Amino acid sequence: MKRIKASIIGFGSVGQGVARVLLRKKEELSSMGLDIAVVAVADSKTAVIDQQGVDLAMVLERKASEGIVGDEHITGHDIIRDIEHDLVIETTPTNIDTGGVGLQNMLTAFNKKRHVVTSNKGPLALKYRELAALAERSGCAFRFEATVGGAMPLINLIKDTLAGNDVISIEGIFNGTCNYILTRMMEEHATYELMLAEAQELGIAEKDPIYDVEGIDAACKLVILANAIFGMDATYKDVHVTGISRITPEALMLAETDGYVIKLIGEVSKNRIQVAPRLVPIGHPLAVGGTLNVASLQTDLAGPVIVVGRGAGSIETASAILSDIVSIYKD
Ligand code: HSE
Repeated sequence: MKRIKASIIGFGSVGQGVARVLLRKKEELSSMGLDIAVVAVADSKTAVIDQQGVDLAMVLERKASEGIVGDEHITGHDIIRDIEHDLVIETTPTNIDTGGVGLQNMLTAFNKKRHVVTSNKGPLALKYRELAALAERSGCAFRFEATVGGAMPLINLIKDTLAGNDVISIEGIFNGTCNYILTRMMEEHATYELMLAEAQELGIAEKDPIYDVEGIDAACKLVILANAIFGMDATYKDVHVTGISRITPEALMLAETDGYVIKLIGEVSKNRIQVAPRLVPIGHPLAVGGTLNVASLQTDLAGPVIVVGRGAGSIETASAILSDIVSIYKD
């Protein structure tokens, strides 16, 4: 049995999802020969550390009842720097302007020769090249399936299952909040503001939903794909972005009369990274509804490949994180 010492840095919806999934999948992991001991958990204010393995059920309970994970007033960054462990699960909130604490956490993890699995888009959308180079120099794994499309398999699908293919383009829906708003506006003929409030209640919108509705979140995901799949050196400022905030129920009704839906479509290829609302024929594979994400790949050997999945959610995002963890250690 391989014993892996991990930390969970950031204990919001995704971090808690990871804890739940690790508890739920303990036996399956064991049968793969993996014993993942979480030796530290940090939220934005507190931390709990135990080299024998933190009791995740108790930490989840404390977070729910008291809003904190422990008594230690040390930061996630301190844990990454000072506590001996192999793997950092970085799930702090994303900061698209500076990379935020997530960027420092990842840099420090690699400097300390710890692997990183993350759902945090900001650092990758700003500093992908630097992070990937440092990870490689340090001999560390850097996995980020959860940053693009949540549970929808995409990065590992391309890198592993479709290995050897050249990906010519990827287009699709990369923001569940916008997809939900557009779907519901069409179904209910309701205003954008009302449906945004509904999407926020579902808990899938970014802290500041401007990032969703103005297309910035989708742009960040495309930048991650541009860098990780197309070998570009892009930041989200290189993306041509138009959001959905000016789309009216009337425009959606008019489109429907003509047999179309309006979707916020992201597209990345070697010469173009773009996010904009587009007319998509009803029944087209990209015309998925609700909070779903979809990606349509054009590849040189396999031809077209389409994947659909849940792009957000605590357990769904944790699913992508778990698959990254397993793929680091299974070999
Ligand atoms: N706010 C994002 C969305 C969450 O709605 O898709 C996942 O990145």
